[in-house]
Amino acid sequence: MKISVIGCGYLGAVHAATLASMGHSVVGIDVDHAKVEQLARGAAPFHEPGLDELLQDGSATGRLRFSTDIADAACAQMHFLCVGTPQDKASDAADLSYLVSATRALLPHLAAGAVVVGKSTVPVGTVDMLRGVLGRRPDVLLGWNPEFLRQGTAVKDSLVPDRLVYGVDGGKAAAFNRSTGAPVGVAAALDAVYEPLLRAGIPRQVCSCATAELIKSASNAYLATKISFINAVSELCDASGADVAELSEAMGLDPRIGNRYLHAGLGFGGGCLPKDIRSFRAQATSHGVDAVADWMQLVDSVNLGQRQRTVDLAADLCGGTVAGRTITVLGASFKPDTDDIRDSPALDVADRLAAAGAHVTVTDPKAVNNAWRRYPRLRFEANATRALEEAELVLLLTEWDEYRRLSPAVAGSLVRRRVLLDARNALDAAAWQAEGWVVRGLGTSAAG
Ligand code: UGA
Repeated sequence: MKISVIGCGYLGAVHAATLASMGHSVVGIDVDHAKVEQLARGAAPFHEPGLDELLQDGSATGRLRFSTDIADAACAQMHFLCVGTPQDKASDAADLSYLVSATRALLPHLAAGAVVVGKSTVPVGTVDMLRGVLGRRPDVLLGWNPEFLRQGTAVKDSLVPDRLVYGVDGGKAAAFNRSTGAPVGVAAALDAVYEPLLRAGIPRQVCSCATAELIKSASNAYLATKISFINAVSELCDASGADVAELSEAMGLDPRIGNRYLHAGLGFGGGCLPKDIRSFRAQATSHGVDAVADWMQLVDSVNLGQRQRTVDLAADLCGGTVAGRTITVLGASFKPDTDDIRDSPALDVADRLAAAGAHVTVTDPKAVNNAWRRYPRLRFEANATRALEEAELVLLLTEWDEYRRLSPAVAGSLVRRRVLLDARNALDAAAWQAEGWVVRGLGTSAAG
């Protein structure tokens, strides 16, 4: 099938590459010349395991190309909208202006009966609004197919997703031919796109556009809720002498609860969960559903509170203040296996420590290049060994595998004081204590 993908950021670049790997002929469109040029060379503009290989395969087979000219989308019958929906700083709601302008730009290039499907995370009602933008083209079919991929595992998540969600006009009842049961319209087009995934048994759920829009928002809100829940409990653990790691392990063994997103620590960041819970809150408020809005507010404030809690613990470990102390921070990206530093809890904490007068060196396997210009108060060092030299306090803030594998003996020989704050509860505290380290976590009884 001939497909265009409008917007080649994180979502669009991965989507375009995976569609090409499924055998479709794909053109990715983006306004950013440098990004398009880099993607066309088979090099992702961000760190994502497995993506470069898919991009190179796509260009070698001729099935994948990139362009800055929206007119190049005209050859496609199916168009995926993958542009960003950032947080509007004034209202906290999602800013839909990129989506509107992409749809407007695409409009003159749409063939008769073209199918336009959005993948971005959007507030409920967005499809109705875009239908207004498409106004004079009633022949164009519009649907929503939210994406659930995670950075760091995006390729695998796209090729083997948990589920596919199709939002179509009129919902499930309108998606299938009444007499034959065969999918029609947007559902039929999406079935053709995802045929290899459906054949592999990936479940698909067909629903109204409003439900599809909310499925994505509610899923991210639920993941954020689960993380903030265990982080709130971790504070109770600290106050009462219980251990949150043991607690969450036992809770997670109950299959009704499950252990994923139940790992206590510094909390969530990145380009999705923080902005999406704020957008969800704004949606709930605009629909007059205060319970959801209040809920999201609490999830957000518990999450941000973990950052100050970490800063306060660091001060405790330095005898009351971090001023003048030499501190090494392990990790700058918002989570491991990505170089993305958007709303990174690690950099937020590091910057607060520096603002309080500490001399902070931050190290990260991939994100140093993205971070150093934006944080003038911090010193960056790509090499972890050099970063650890002379530290009076070490903070683990992003749990990259290479930090999990650090030898406490070797690290101990580099630092001035063997004091570790493991704010991701990721290290083997007993092994570090055995090497003479004082170890603290968030909600763990690891105080040494
Ligand atoms: C998130 C969702 O997981 C995806 O399903 C969704 O498609 C994506 O947002 C999106 O909307 O595009 P992502 O932002 O890549 O994916 O990151 P996650 O792997 O979900 O991690 C988010 C944050 O939660 C990270 O900062 C991570 O460190 C933190 N986290 C995760 C915890 O603090 N504890 C946990 O137990 C799990």
